[in-house]
Parts: sequence; structure tokens; C-alpha cells
Amino acid sequence: MTGLIQGKTFVVTGGASGIGASAARLAVQEGASVVLADIQDEAGKALADDLGDAARYVRCDVRSEQDVAGLVDEAVSAFGKVDVMFNNAGIVGAMGPIDEIPLDEYDFTVAVLMRSVFLGMKHAARVMKPRHSGVILSTTSCVGLRGGLGPHVYAGCKAAIVGFTRNVAAELGPWGIRVNAIAPGKHATPMFADAALGDPKATDRTDVFERISPLKGRYGTAEDIAEAAVWLSSDRAGFVSGITMSVDGGLISGTPEGAEPGQGLYAGHRPLLREAGGRGLPV
Ligand SMILES: NC(=O)c1ccc[n+]([C@@H]2O[C@H](COP(=O)([O-])OP(=O)(O)OC[C@H]3O[C@@H](n4cnc5c(N)ncnc54)[C@H](O)[C@@H]3O)[C@@H](O)[C@H]2O)c1
Repeated sequence: MTGLIQGKTFVVTGGASGIGASAARLAVQEGASVVLADIQDEAGKALADDLGDAARYVRCDVRSEQDVAGLVDEAVSAFGKVDVMFNNAGIVGAMGPIDEIPLDEYDFTVAVLMRSVFLGMKHAARVMKPRHSGVILSTTSCVGLRGGLGPHVYAGCKAAIVGFTRNVAAELGPWGIRVNAIAPGKHATPMFADAALGDPKATDRTDVFERISPLKGRYGTAEDIAEAAVWLSSDRAGFVSGITMSVDGGLISGTPEGAEPGQGLYAGHRPLLREAGGRGLPV
């Protein structure tokens, strides 16, 4: 059977854990060769071994231009090309009130979350432009789309990724290269379990994830983002570029706070004015 991204080379950063690991796994299932990059060598190597010949692990600190350039070059030398570059690695980073965040923590967070995306886009474009083909994806966040959902520096970096995506898509469209971002909501990964529950291993606390999910009977998983990434990488999404796709169960579009199903704002039925014989609307 032919997979959704059969024969493509899929590079993902932050590939040893959570969303990146899930994307690596799904990409292999859907026919791609995968280069997964991380700084967690043991977990990265174990996943690559598990995925077999179609996958390999490369150590890459996404803050380093030398590392990101090397990752892209390694993918080209192993599999001949880079079809997809998924800039996904991340941390929560600097926390606290705006008037207390130390500058070095700000700089470190920006380097992991934002410089990384710049470097990933830059070096992916370097090898994609000559082929007039490719897909660049980056993981932003619901926190970058609305105020008050997360730490300041994280929010700023994630919002910047949305702008970066639009602008780089405008440059690279004429080269046949698509550039998109994905905005997760709250997903049961080590990062979010750590942020929400103080324990990166608490991804099995389904009771908590269900309670905070905006969608009844379902909470966000790493696989939900992997599905979006693989679809956006595929030719089925061939005319999709410059967007940020929210995959958040409706978190950003808004939910009726505290309402039971069917009881939220505007849920009750009222006849239109014209049905009620009111004035001002054509009958
Ligand atoms: N989980 C969520 O609810 C959620 C929500 C919105 C956005 N995100 C974003 O999704 C992405 C993936 O996060 P996740 O939830 O899978 O978390 P995770 O902690 O499971 O995975 C993140 C990975 O990035 C790697 N990483 C961190 N710093 C790195 C560096 N300097 N160089 C290379 N790799 C590095 C980590 O080692 C880890 O393997 C992040 O960009 C995060 O901001 C997650």
C-alpha cells in the first residue's frame, strides 16, 4: 500500500519525545524516510532503532547553526533530498512576571524556540530551492495566538513563528515550496505534563487532560499534531501554504465557559424576527 508521504524525506527536530516522536513514527508508517533530531541521544537512538532502516537519529541542538546545517546535510547525504523540514523542538522556557524575567533566560528561550525555526527554515530553503520543491512546517502554539495562555517569552516566540511562516511562505511560493505552521492546544506530552502537573512522566493522567479539554470525551495527544503534520507534508495539501493550522479541539475559536452541552450562549432557539412578524426584515 502506498503511504500518504511515500518516498519523501521527513526531517523533524525534537524528534525524541512527544509530538516530534509521534510525527517521526507516523511519517515512517506513511512511507517516508525520517531523520529525527534531538539532544536526548538515548531516546532518539532508541526510537530510530525501533523504526528500522527508514529512520536515523542525528544529534542536533537547534540553537546551533552548525548543528542545524549539519542535520540538513546529513539528511541529504543519507536519503538524497529533504522534502519536509519540521521545526518542532521546544521548551516552556523562561517563566514569571514580565518585570522579573532574567535576560539570560529570555535569550536562551528565544534561541530554542525562535532562532531554531529561523535556522531550520534557512537551511531547508538552501537545499529545497534548487529542487523547486519542499515543505517547511513549524510548531507554534495556541499560546502564540491569544493572550494569557502561557509564559510571556514562549508566547512571543510562538507568535513570531506565525509571522515568520507567512512571510517565508510568500518568498518561497514561487519556488514551489510550501511553508505552514501548526498550533497545538493542550496535549498529553512530557512538556505539557511537566508544565501542568510538575511531572513529565504524567502523560497518563487522562482524568486531568479530559477535564481541561475543550472537546467532550477527547483530549489532545501528540498523535493529533502528527496527523496534521503528515497531511500538511503530503501532496493532498498541495495548495496549502502560509497558514497556521490550529489543532486544539476548538480552544482558540472559543468555548462557552462552564456551560453544559446545549446550554451555552445562543444555544436556545428563538424564531427569526420575520417569522415572528417583526419589522425591519423582508417577509
Ligand atoms: N504539548 C503541548 O500541549 C504543546 C502545545 C503547544 C505547542 N507545543 C509545542 O510542541 C513542540 C513539541 O513539544 P512536545 O509537547 O512534544 O514536548 P516534548 O518535551 O515531549 O518534546 C520536545 C523535544 O524538544 C527537544 N529539545 C528541547 N530543546 C532542544 C534543543 N535545544 N535542541 C534540540 N532539541 C531540543 C527535547 O529534548 C524534546 O525531545 C514544542 O515546540 C512545543 O512548544 C506543545
